[in-house]
Amino acid sequence: MMPSRVTLVDVGPRDGLQNEKEPVATAHKVELVQRLQAAGLREIEVTSFVSPKWVPQMADNAQVMAGIARAPGVRYSVLTPNMKGLEAALASRPDEIVVFGAATEAFSQRNINCSIAESIERFAPVVAAAREAGIKVRGAISCALGCPYQGEVSADEVEHVVRLMKGIGVHHVGVADTIGVGTPRKVQAALERALEHFPLAEVSGHFHDTYGQALANIYACLEIGVHTFDASVAGLGGCPYAKGATGNVATEDVVFMLQGLGIDTGVDLDALVDAGEFISAQLGRPPVSRVGRALLAKRGKVFV
Ligand code: HMG
Ligand code: MG
Repeated sequence: MMPSRVTLVDVGPRDGLQNEKEPVATAHKVELVQRLQAAGLREIEVTSFVSPKWVPQMADNAQVMAGIARAPGVRYSVLTPNMKGLEAALASRPDEIVVFGAATEAFSQRNINCSIAESIERFAPVVAAAREAGIKVRGAISCALGCPYQGEVSADEVEHVVRLMKGIGVHHVGVADTIGVGTPRKVQAALERALEHFPLAEVSGHFHDTYGQALANIYACLEIGVHTFDASVAGLGGCPYAKGATGNVATEDVVFMLQGLGIDTGVDLDALVDAGEFISAQLGRPPVSRVGRALLAKRGKVFV
């Protein structure tokens, strides 16, 4: 059942940077995207077209999209929570958009200021317009393994939103552990619900590593055949509306594990480590990625 190839979506430029308090220069965001594509990433989540009052770090969305020199075969995605976001995003010619809902009412309210049902109503015209424009649509489901406000989340609650997303026509569904509390069997149970409604290639996992479970959770997904994962270079990331949640699983760590398993990702680990070192230096701290730090130490780099 284990896949022979895995697709990694690097969400570092978006999820990784959205939570940074100090503004990150647009040029550094652009360079990060360039480095990721040079390292072999074929799917990159670049930015989000959300309210700059809610997430100031993403206010330069159009400039970042305009600044990247696109490489053939790379899919550039952006987050669009509503029609206003989609209309702004269209001018930037994304290959894919992401509508993002939640498995719990409390997180939906905190993150996008509306109920689950209202979010689906808002997403419906966004999905329709994107499809009309020939743009792929991903639906992300936050708090699928636990919620910072409501606690436990059941697979039934996840499946409820999976069905709603399917009903409005998203092509792909991403099951997200926003606060990193999921463990392997629970993750399998949640993903299996998504697989009842979407084919294997259109279900992905998005695991924040707050409790150190993300690699185990990815392995558990591989066991059931899932072969698409979000990850964030250098382990950057967090959600402004999930306090204390740390970054996504580091792309370097995932690539290292997959290489050990003989699973192809198309990613050049050394170049990826360089990208992680680059962005971490801009942020003034060492990479969170264990693999990144280990390989940099091997090259003689000393972290103080
Ligand atoms: P709202 O306040 O309910 O929206 O926010 P509104 O429609 O009432 O508009 C209020 C103001 O925002 C107006 O401006 C609008 O023009 C403006 P004003 O008249 O006050 O000057 N506005 C916008 N501006 C730019 N772009 C837009 C936009 N929409 C409205 N698209 C809204 C609703 C969804 C906009 C807001 O709640 C928001 O921006 N939330 C973003 C939250 C966010 O980005 N969270 C992080 C990403 S999700 C995540 O990290 C989870 C994920 O990684 C998976 C996981 O780990 O779980 C994906
Ligand atoms: Mg996230």
